[in-house]
Amino acid sequence: TGHTTLDYGFVNTSATKSAITFIDGDKGILRYRGYPIEQLAKNSTYLEVAWLLLYGELPSASELEEFDNRIRRHTLLHEDLKRFFSSLPHTAHPMSVLSSATAALSTYYEHQSDPGNPEHVELNTIRLLAKLPVIAAYAHKKSIGQAFLYPDNGLGFVDNFLKLNFGVLSEPYEINPVMSRALERLLILHEDHEQNASTSTVRLVGSTGANQFSSISAGINALYGPLHGGANEAVLNMLAQIRDSGESVQRFVERVKNKEDGVKLMGFGHRVYKNYDPRAKLVKESADEILSELGVHDPLLELAKELEELALNDDYFKERRLYPNVDFYTGVIYKAMGFPTRMFTVLFAIGRLPGWLAHWTEMQRDSQTKIGRPQQLYTGASERNYPGVV
Ligand code: CMC
Repeated sequence: TGHTTLDYGFVNTSATKSAITFIDGDKGILRYRGYPIEQLAKNSTYLEVAWLLLYGELPSASELEEFDNRIRRHTLLHEDLKRFFSSLPHTAHPMSVLSSATAALSTYYEHQSDPGNPEHVELNTIRLLAKLPVIAAYAHKKSIGQAFLYPDNGLGFVDNFLKLNFGVLSEPYEINPVMSRALERLLILHEDHEQNASTSTVRLVGSTGANQFSSISAGINALYGPLHGGANEAVLNMLAQIRDSGESVQRFVERVKNKEDGVKLMGFGHRVYKNYDPRAKLVKESADEILSELGVHDPLLELAKELEELALNDDYFKERRLYPNVDFYTGVIYKAMGFPTRMFTVLFAIGRLPGWLAHWTEMQRDSQTKIGRPQQLYTGASERNYPGVV
C-alpha cells in the first residue's frame, strides 16, 4: 500500500515470470517453449504439445507413449459423478456443465489433492487431461438428449473424444481421419497463450493454495465470457444473425464503427496482437480445405471472409490495429464437424487445459510465488458515524 499504480485490465502489469509461451504481438509471433506454433500445428499432436508445455521439452517416443497410456487409464468418471449431469436442466450451457463438473471432480480426490505433493499434482494433471474431454462430451450428449458412451481406451485422445461426442450406443463408430486431424490441429493452436484472462485466473486461484480441480474450474468460468473464449460462439451467432436479418455486411460494419448498441465485430481485436493473430492465419488457411474435405459448403464462411476483407480495409480497424483473432474462423470449422454452437467454447477449454495445468504447476514451483492480491485506489466515503453514534 502507499505506492500503487492504477492499471485497469492489467494492460501494463506483469504479475509473474514464465518460461512457457512467447508472444510478439506486433509481429504476430507465437511460440510454445521456443517452438513456432506453425511447426507444432503441422507436425505435432495434442498430447505431445501438452507434455512440451508441462515439462519444457518434447517427449521421447517412450515418454509420450507412457503419458498417452496413463491418460487412457484415467478416462473413466466415477459412476456417481455421471448422475450429477442428470440434476442439471438439458438447456444448461455446456460451459457451465463443464466448470461445475470439474469443480465436482475435486470431491472425489480430496485425499490426493495436496498442491505441495508432486505425486498428487502429477496424478491430477493426468486425471484432468483424461476426464475433461469425457465431461465435455457428456455435456454435449446431455444437451441433445443422447446416452453417454463409455470412453474407448483403444482409441487415441482425439478419436476417443470424437467418438464420445458423435458415437451412438449400439452402433459402430467410424473414425474420420480428416476430422480427427483437423480437430487435433485446432486443439494444438489453443493449448497455451501465456497470461490471458483464464490462465491468470487459474494462477490467481492457485496462488491461494487451492487444488488443480478448483483452479481449472475457475479458469473454465473465466473462459466462458464472450470477450475471451466465448467469442467463438459469439462469432457464429453474429454471422447467423447477419445472414438471417438480411442486413448487408457494410451496414453491420457501420454499426460496429458507430458503436451502435455496443455492437462489436466478434472475433476481431486482441489485447496483445496488433497484427494478424498467427493462429487465425492458420485456421483461415485450413478452413476451406477442411470444409471441402468434410463435404460441407457453408455460406457463413463466405460471409466471414467478406466481413474480414471489409474490416481490414477500413480506417476504423486499421487505426486501432484490429485483426481477426483465433476465434474468428474456428466456429465455422466446428460447425462443419457437427458440433452445436454452444459446444465451441468447450472445445476451446479442452484445447487450453494443458496450458492452464502448465501455468498452475510453474507457479507452484516458483519460489517467488505469493498469493495474488491486487491493490485498489479507494474512491468511497471518508469516515462517518452510524446514525445515533456521536
Ligand atoms: N470490434 C469493434 N471495435 C473494437 C473491437 C471489436 N472487436 N475490439 C476492439 N475495438 C475497439 C475498442 O472499442 C476501442 O476503441 P476506442 O479506442 O474507440 O474506444 C479500441 O478498439 C481498443 O480496444 P480495447 O477494448 O481497448 O482493447 P482491449 O485490449 O481492452 O480488448 C478484446 C481486447 C479482445 C477484449 C477486444 O478486442 C474485443 O472485445 N474483441 C471482440 C471479442 C473477441 O473476439 N474476443 C476474443 C479474443 S482472442 C482469443 C480469446 O481470448 O478467446
